[in-house]
Amino acid sequence: MPITLNQLEVMVRQAGDVAMRYFNDLESLAVSKKSARDLVTDADVAVEQYLKQALGEQCPEYGFWGEESGQTANQISRWIVDPIDGTHSFSRGQYFWGISVALEIDGQIVMGAVYGPALDDYYSAELGKGAWKNGKPIRVSAEAELGSSMISTGFACLRSYLEHNNLERFCRIAQATTGQRRFGSAALDLCLVADGQVDAFWEQELNLYDVAAGALIALEAGGTVTDFKGNSGIFPKQILATNAKILDQLLPLM
Ligand code: IPD
Ligand code: CA
Ligand code: CA
Repeated sequence: MPITLNQLEVMVRQAGDVAMRYFNDLESLAVSKKSARDLVTDADVAVEQYLKQALGEQCPEYGFWGEESGQTANQISRWIVDPIDGTHSFSRGQYFWGISVALEIDGQIVMGAVYGPALDDYYSAELGKGAWKNGKPIRVSAEAELGSSMISTGFACLRSYLEHNNLERFCRIAQATTGQRRFGSAALDLCLVADGQVDAFWEQELNLYDVAAGALIALEAGGTVTDFKGNSGIFPKQILATNAKILDQLLPLM
C-alpha cells in the first residue's frame, strides 16, 4: 500500500481543520443549491480542493473522484471523496456530518476513513486488517433480535422526488424494531453500524462517494453490506449494512 492509514489520517484531520474554520463561522458561509433539495457550500469545495491537492502530492499515481469536482483521468486506481457528507446538517450548525475518503484499486475498496470533526470521531479501515474508531478496534453489535434492534436510514430518494421513496419501508421496519434514527450522514451512519451504535442502516439513491469508506469500515468491523435482496457488495443505489445477526430477519421487510 503506497500510503498508511496513519498518513491518511494526518491529511483527513487537516481537512477537518479546513471544514471547522467554516463551521465556526456559519454566518459567513456561502450556501448554494445543486438542485431543489441538494446543497453545496464553500466548505464542501474548500475541503475537497485540500484533499485533492494533498492526496495528489502523496500518491500522484492515483486518480481522484470528488463529489464537487468530478473525476480525473485515472479511474482504475482512485481516491473517492465526499468532502462533507451531511452538508444540510453542516449548514445548520448540527454536529452529525463527516469527511469520507476511500481508496479504490481495480474496483476494490482497500482503505477508508470517515471523520466527524464536530464529533471528534475518526473511523478508519484497511481491507483485511480491521476497523478502528479513534485508534481503537471496533466491532458491530451483538443484537440478534430485530424486535430489540435500533436501525437508521436516510431519504435521498425524497430529494429526487422518487415514487419509491423509502417511506413505506421505513414505517414497516419501524413497527418491527425498538429504535429508529435518521442522523443525516450516510457515511457516518455506516460507521455507527461498525461501532455497534446501531444494528442496521439502509438507504437508496446514494452515490459511491457517500458510502465507499463507510461500507469498508462496516465490513471490516464484522458487518454485512448488501443490496436490499441480500446480494453482497457495495450498491450505492440500494445499500444495506447490518451487524450480520439481524440480516435474515430484516431482508423480508426490505
Ligand atoms: C447526504 C447524506 C445524507 C443522505 C443524502 C446524501 P451530502 O450527503 O449522506 O445522509 O440521506 O441522501 O446526499 O449530500 O450531504 O453529501
Ligand atoms: Ca454525501
Ligand atoms: Ca457531500
